[in-house]
Amino acid sequence: EKGEFRHFMLKEIYEQPEVVKATLQGRISATKLLEQAFGNGASAIFDQTKQVQIIACGTSYHAGMIAKYWLEDIAGIPCAVEVASEYRYRKHVVPENTLFLTISQSGETADTLAALREVQDKVLASLTICNVPGSSLVRESDLSLMTNAGPEIGVASTKAFTTQLVALLLFTLALARRSGLSEAREAEIVGALHQLPELLLAAVKLDASIESLSRAFAEKNHTLFLGRGPLYPVAMEGALKLKEISYIHAEAYPAGELKHGPLALVDKDMPVVAVAPNNALLDKLKANLQEVKARGGELFVFAGADHIKPEEGLRVEQMPDVPEILEPIVYTVPLQLLSYHVAVLKGTDVDQPRNLAKSVTVE
Ligand code: M6R
Repeated sequence: EKGEFRHFMLKEIYEQPEVVKATLQGRISATKLLEQAFGNGASAIFDQTKQVQIIACGTSYHAGMIAKYWLEDIAGIPCAVEVASEYRYRKHVVPENTLFLTISQSGETADTLAALREVQDKVLASLTICNVPGSSLVRESDLSLMTNAGPEIGVASTKAFTTQLVALLLFTLALARRSGLSEAREAEIVGALHQLPELLLAAVKLDASIESLSRAFAEKNHTLFLGRGPLYPVAMEGALKLKEISYIHAEAYPAGELKHGPLALVDKDMPVVAVAPNNALLDKLKANLQEVKARGGELFVFAGADHIKPEEGLRVEQMPDVPEILEPIVYTVPLQLLSYHVAVLKGTDVDQPRNLAKSVTVE
């Protein structure tokens, strides 16, 4: 039940600090990944894995896109990510020793399941990261890692996404160990994961401040979301949330692509949201933000402490300081809250947006 919350979506956003604890429970020690979490036979499969093919839809696809950055960066393993509806209908090459990874909240998404069935006997093994025990994807995959987020009722996926990211980070560690990840680096990442519930709580507490931002969007017809690196898929997820529940057209771009077309759209009626943590790409992103400002675009930037100064036409929402590896997880929360409040202002059916179903079991 919704309890004190007006909508399931808001309740599920607020549950995130708790449910990530459930995702981590029994899967990490103080300093290490506990690999048994992936079940019997997983270690032998990981030993042989040479690349990862990720397949998913919607929000789960965005989680997969973030995992690609992690897998190639931390584990040095090639990773391809594709939406299931494309993958299943094209002739694809499956390199030897490919681990096939599906990501799904429901475990019943028709295209994802069909892609798994199609590829099953061409791959080294299949793994699903899934939230529903006993679902079709869990039953039909060789290995599964449950996200343990609890039932997600809102059609807009929130806590399923952040727990998928946690599970994907654990998966990254499992492969990275086999490609020279030092114990010290593993301990550092695991240490960061132990801090995650607290950091998510700090992000959820920005709620009132984000609600006040939402007024600037409710009357607009379009919004652009920008990010770089693993924050680009976070921007995509922010745009999907806004479209899905507030019916405002939203698009996400990797900020470096602005000049290659979308900058032509920017004017005072096109608010631009940027996720801008203090990482190696911040200076590049700042330059992109200046390009937007120069065209009269109104900017809303989610940034770490004091790295971007507010000015006329540029509002900064200050985020807690976050270990770099956790940035995609923590920076997702304010975008969920933003779309939620915009939808409430617009009076749409937040938990059951028009034309959409929670689980897409037909193609
Ligand atoms: O259950 P799944 O994770 O396989 O669902 C995939 C998409 O249908 C789902 O993420 C959809 O995009 C959400 N409504 C987004 O909020």
